[in-house]
Parts: sequence; C-alpha cells; structure tokens
Amino acid sequence: MSEKINIFDTTLRDGEQVPGCKLNTTEKIELALAIEQLGVDIIEAGFPISSPGDFYSVQEIAKIITHASVCGLSRAVKKDIEVAADALKYAKKPRIHTGIGTSDYHIKGKFNSTREDILERAIQCVKWAKNFVDDVEFYAEDAGRTDNEYLARVVEAVIKAGATVINIPDTTGYCLPSQYGEKIAYLRNNVSNIDKAILSCHCHNDLGLATANSIEGVIHGARQIECTINGLGERAGNTSLEEVVMVIQQHKNLGFYTNIKTKQLNPISRLVSDTMRMPVQPNKAIVGANAFSHSSGIHQDGFLKSAITYEIINPKDVGADISKIVLTARSGRSALAFRLKNLGYECTRNDIDVLYEKFLQIADQKKEVGDDDLHEMAKQHLSIEA
Ligand code: KIV
Ligand code: ZN
Repeated sequence: MSEKINIFDTTLRDGEQVPGCKLNTTEKIELALAIEQLGVDIIEAGFPISSPGDFYSVQEIAKIITHASVCGLSRAVKKDIEVAADALKYAKKPRIHTGIGTSDYHIKGKFNSTREDILERAIQCVKWAKNFVDDVEFYAEDAGRTDNEYLARVVEAVIKAGATVINIPDTTGYCLPSQYGEKIAYLRNNVSNIDKAILSCHCHNDLGLATANSIEGVIHGARQIECTINGLGERAGNTSLEEVVMVIQQHKNLGFYTNIKTKQLNPISRLVSDTMRMPVQPNKAIVGANAFSHSSGIHQDGFLKSAITYEIINPKDVGADISKIVLTARSGRSALAFRLKNLGYECTRNDIDVLYEKFLQIADQKKEVGDDDLHEMAKQHLSIEA
C-alpha cells in the first residue's frame, strides 16, 4: 500500500520573499484559494510579525481556507509566536511554525551563543507555541549543515516538548541527495520518540538539488515536503511543487502518493507567475513553455510515431497545452508533413520533398518557421502544381 506524502506549500511565505514578488492581501487570498483547490495539505500563509500587512493577509487567509491547515511562521521568540497565534485564531486547522538555527554557523555567527543555549530556546519556543495551538512545527534552520548528533538531541527534545512536525531545512541548498537522505535516516534511527512526529523536507535549490534532496528525504522516512509553485523562493528558490509531485506520480514504485490534482499544475503555475510578476523559464520541468515541445528531426520523428518515445508525461495530465512540434532548421520531413497536415494540406511524398528544400532555406534565415510561412510555401507550391 502506498503512503501519503503531505504537501506543504510555502509559495506565500518563502516564495513571496523573492525581490519583486511581494503580494497584497487580495492577491494572497486569490492564490491561497487556488493553492487549496490544488489539493495541498498545508498552506504557509506568511510571517505575521514581519509586517502589519502580512499579519492581515495571514488572518484573512485563515478565515477562508476550509480544508488545508493554515500555517504562520515565527522565530523562537515569545512575541513572534503570540502574534502568529493571533493571526491564526480564525483558522479551522491552525499550525505555528517556529524554530531556530542549529548549525554552528548560526549558533556562533548569528546568535553568538552555545549549543546548550540554543537547545533550551528550541524547547521553550515549542512549549510556548503549544499554549496556543496543538499543531506545532519546529524548524531547525540550516539543519543541512548541522552536526547530526546535535540535531538528533534537538529533535528529540522538541518532540518531547510537543512538536508534531519537525522541519529539516537545507537552508543554503548545500547537501548532496545522499547526505540529505542520510540525515533523515539518522534522525529516524537515533531519535527515540521520532514516531511521535512527522519529518519534513525543506530544501533550497542553490546547487539545483532541491527536488532530488526532497525525494531522497521521503525515501528515507520524511512524510512532508515543503515546496513552492514554480520553485520560487530565496536566491535560487525552493523545491518546486510540480516537480516533486510528478516524481512521486511517475515513480509509483517508490510507494508514495500526494493529494495534488495534477491537471491544475500548469494553470496554477501561470496564475502564480502572472500574480507575482515572475516569468517561468521556458525549459522548466512540467510547467515551462518548452516542457512539451519537440524541435529536432530525430525527436520529432520518434515522437510522431509514438509519443512515449520522447515524452514521459502526457501534457493533459498536468494541464499543459498539447505537445508542440516546433519547426526549425533541425527539423525533419515528418515534422513538416505533420504541421502541413494540421493546416489542411494533404501532401504527397513528392510534395514534401520539394517543400522541404524550400522549408530549409526559410529555416536557415529564421529561428522558427511559423504557420504563415507554411501557408505561403504550400500555396506557392500547390499553385505551381495546378
Ligand atoms: O530555509 C529555511 O530554513 C526556512 C525556515 C525559516 C523554515 O525557510
Ligand atoms: Zn526556506
């Protein structure tokens, strides 16, 4: 039987931290409703103490979301936690996400403190948050670069203090997939009360490994993935929601499933991109403009004979437009014949041979040969024939 992986969407918090992506409350509400419709389990709506505007957004989102848990971020500071609790007071399923840096870089460089002091502050913040909500998620910031033995002590202590979910962020996107997977396995094997909490992957993409790391995390025992639509987020971004969801769906032998309605992946990607004014790179997996286009002759020929030769996902399953056969100077005769047929021209093999020579001349001048060029070519050729 496959096991459920909870999807924790942080587009409205970690994603919104990107310069230029700031949203007003109306925009945040529109996205929160679409994200809930997508089927996520938890929506991280914002960081309530960070500004009055963000407090208000979290509060309004908490009022309208019915199925997903609504989460607010806080530091390990009493006032932060109280403000987050206040912003979440109307939520049907509120979650406070609190925590502190646990790597020596953070303990010494950021807090000028000691491991013992940070351990105590971690315990106290979870206990404080438990006064307001049952569901408390603890994050060990920079867990990716935290010594495993110390991390295990912190995790055990915060679970004892009442944390229900333990977030293991690779905050700087430093870990290799094997290292991140081993970290999760280490916690599963060395924290005595680990079965009382869910382990969560929160990976950043500085080395382009966020998706791979999150998948390694669930393979080694995590049951929640924190991610954003289009992989938006600090610096190189967070784990991309559409990527982890489709890895899980395509590799059923992993034994996992999510509740994401995959047909909504492309529409929500466009909505987030437009609302946050952040274009999606054309070669982005699942939601990029070129994710389902074929332009080289060898690929086009194989694809036209059988789509599965060059496509592992049916574009319909992720709400994308049908696959595109793009005509460039690298395209072959079968792609040209296919595009002409779609425009209503029934051509013989001989017609295609003649038209292909003309096509190559145009294609060498232009990046892409479009429908107008094809009409022009076909009409000229067919009138000569007639
Ligand atoms: O990347 C990170 O460590 C975070 C935490 C605040 C959860 O975003
Ligand atoms: Zn983050």
